[in-house]
Amino acid sequence: MESYSKLLLQNKAWAAEMKQDDPHFFERLAKDQTPAFLWIGCSDSRVPANEITGTFPGEIFVHRNIANLVVKDDINLLSVLEYAVVHLKVQHVIVCGHYGCGGVKAALTDKSYGILDPWLKNIKNIIAENQEELQNISDVEEQCNRLVELSVKKQVYNLSLTDTLRKVWGEENRPRLHGWVYSLKDGLLKQIHEVQPPLAAKEPGQAADV
Ligand code: CO
Repeated sequence: MESYSKLLLQNKAWAAEMKQDDPHFFERLAKDQTPAFLWIGCSDSRVPANEITGTFPGEIFVHRNIANLVVKDDINLLSVLEYAVVHLKVQHVIVCGHYGCGGVKAALTDKSYGILDPWLKNIKNIIAENQEELQNISDVEEQCNRLVELSVKKQVYNLSLTDTLRKVWGEENRPRLHGWVYSLKDGLLKQIHEVQPPLAAKEPGQAADV
C-alpha cells in the first residue's frame, strides 16, 4: 500500500469512530466554529496542536510556521490573527515553541539555508539581542533551548504590538496572550510568559513571566 493510502483509510476509520461516539459531531461542526483559542505553533510534525492538548476539531484555530514566529509584515499570520481575534473572538492566543526546534537550531549556525535565510534572520535578531546571556551557556542543547524560550517571549511581545490586538484591546478585555514551550522528550507543555489585556487602557499589555 502507498503510504498516503494509509492516511485515507485511517481517515475513514476516524470519521466512523467520531460519529459513533457523538452522532451529531460533524453535523454540529459543519454549521459553525467557535474556538476559544488561537494557536501559533511550529510546523514541526511532532508538535500538533490538537493532539498534545487533548482537544477536538473546532476547539483551536491554528497557524503554524517554521519556529512559530510572529513577523510584523507576515500577511498570512496577520490575516489569521485578525480573523481569529476580531471575527471568531478567541479568548486566548497561544504562541507555542518547542525545545529542540530545528529552525532555532539552524539560526544558531552560520550555515546558509537558501530561501529560509530571511525567515531565520528573525531568530538571528533575537540571538543578537540576547548575545551575552546565550554566550554564557556552554552546552549547545541548553543554549538552543534557552533561545527557544527567549524567542517565544519575543513573539508574544510582537503579537502585542499588532494593529489587531491594539484595536481589540482598546475595546475589550480579551484576548490574553500566552507563551508556552513544549518538550519533545516528555510531551509536556510549560507556561513561560503571559500578557493580560490592558483593560481598555491605550497602553501595551501587562507582561508577566509565569
Ligand atoms: Co520547530
